[in-house]
Amino acid sequence: MEILKVNNLTKVYNAYKEAKEVKALDGISLTVNKGEFVGIMGPSGSGKTTLLNILSGVDKCTSGEVFINNKDISSMKKDQMALFRRRNLGYIFQDFNLLDSLTLQENIALTLILDKKRPQDIENRVNKLMNFFSIEGLKEKYPYHISGGEKQRVAAARALINEPAIIFADEPTGNLDSKSATNIMSIMSKMNDEMNSTVLMVTHDPFAASFCKRVIFIKDGKVKIEINSHGDRKKFFDKILEVQSVIGGVN
Ligand SMILES: Nc1ncnc2c1ncn2[C@@H]1O[C@H](COP(=O)(O)OP(=O)(O)OP(=O)(O)O)[C@@H](O)[C@H]1O
Ligand SMILES: [Mg+2]
Repeated sequence: MEILKVNNLTKVYNAYKEAKEVKALDGISLTVNKGEFVGIMGPSGSGKTTLLNILSGVDKCTSGEVFINNKDISSMKKDQMALFRRRNLGYIFQDFNLLDSLTLQENIALTLILDKKRPQDIENRVNKLMNFFSIEGLKEKYPYHISGGEKQRVAAARALINEPAIIFADEPTGNLDSKSATNIMSIMSKMNDEMNSTVLMVTHDPFAASFCKRVIFIKDGKVKIEINSHGDRKKFFDKILEVQSVIGGVN
């Protein structure tokens, strides 16, 4: 089942101003199916963050189409988009963005509370996810009470709370030491394997990308090549390094 479909996407920054135009995306087309774990890689400035921002409804494209669950998000108005994001999308941010004044269970539940879901349903869902990630003992704690690894698991539970069609992650291993990077990637793999979540992750980190099932390389705003993992992470890691060395611009 197709979750995400992108047709001939372009993004030109400063298109309507005097400043020099930058063509950040130049005709990107791709499809992501239910249960996939897809990585987007490419050198610095290749358009990864721009692409993710458009796919996740944070920014608008210049031309092209983006369908999520067969809904055309490129034509949505701002309010409609905000609601669509809250109900259909999940996010994992680089620094996890937990709110310090909310308990962990409130952090996880926030979008459902905003959506005025039944308290009993919210509690059941929060309990289920906290058990899934083995953080059930932390419900009443605050973000400043817990370790970095626990924060990662809270962030993953929060991303899953609304049963999103797709979860977007931008450089989830950026700024992390290798142990924490391994942790967050294992958590994302667990989400994908055991909850059949669909995940699209942008990264320039070959180690993070090696956890994906498929990696799409972009450069100068265009798709260059995509490669598939056949389950052996070490082999896939080597393959990613090889493609990176051919594509150039490793950062
Ligand atoms: N708001 C903006 N205004 C003008 N140009 C921009 C803007 N954001 C990004 N760009 C340009 O668009 C191109 C793509 O940038 P983008 O941030 O998508 O790259 P990236 O692949 O995420 O890079 P990195 O790996 O460094 O994060 C770059 O040339 C960048 O300078
Ligand atoms: Mg970026």
